[in-house]
Amino acid sequence: MRLDIISIFPEYFSPLDVSLIGKARERGTLDVHLHQLRDWTHDVHKTVDDTPYGGGPGMVMKPEVWGEAIDSVIGPAGRPRLLVPTPSGRPFTQELAQELATEPWLLFACGRYEGIDSRVMAEYGSRLPVDEVSIGDYVLAGGEVAVLVMVEAIGRLLPGVLGNAHSAVDDSFAPGAMKNLLEGPVYTKPPVWRGREVPEVLLSGHHGKVARWRRDQALRRTVANRPDLVAGLDPAGLDKHDRRLLDELSFRAGPEDVAN
Ligand code: ADE
Repeated sequence: MRLDIISIFPEYFSPLDVSLIGKARERGTLDVHLHQLRDWTHDVHKTVDDTPYGGGPGMVMKPEVWGEAIDSVIGPAGRPRLLVPTPSGRPFTQELAQELATEPWLLFACGRYEGIDSRVMAEYGSRLPVDEVSIGDYVLAGGEVAVLVMVEAIGRLLPGVLGNAHSAVDDSFAPGAMKNLLEGPVYTKPPVWRGREVPEVLLSGHHGKVARWRRDQALRRTVANRPDLVAGLDPAGLDKHDRRLLDELSFRAGPEDVAN
């Protein structure tokens, strides 16, 4: 996969040199190109922003510099998918990460200040797939950190990046049996640490009981931390024991309850 990132702070992306993503780059699974937006300015101050039409606080990124930068990065016939991080965008979810992981070429345009002049998205939206994307209901100082988040979420899904030992199929938000179920607590050696014991069932060697215990913990954690996800649990994927536990925790999963 080719990744281009345009930003006024390309140095923000040094974490992409390390760990899983760094290795994917070394192997050529990920081909990352960083670009300094200011390289496409023409004034001595390398200006990228100006005051907003209609008034209001903050500054808006100028369309001319973004147009030149994007044209130059994509070339005459290039057709990447253009992603613009902004708190006003569509939510970035595991499902969108999976969809983006199948694309051959992504171009991220990092805005700062109050954002990029909207005509840039309109202009490229007429020739490329363009998505404005938010990583959550909070406001960052700019799109750079959001792009790091997205690149890591997408990159770990690329073939060969995780390896078999850490398969992504059991991820909490991946489609399938585990969709909308948070992962439960995990433990390793020693069996007692500062007087705290590892739950006995995990040492029992009884695979059926371990699986049941893990599922109970996952359900409990989901109800406690993300009650909004419970309605999205696949009813066909819930057994009698799951339903009883959800009842006890005062949620009932099933289409008859959705209207309430
Ligand atoms: N830029 C500023 N805040 C953001 C957010 N929550 N998601 C994506 N880009 C952003």
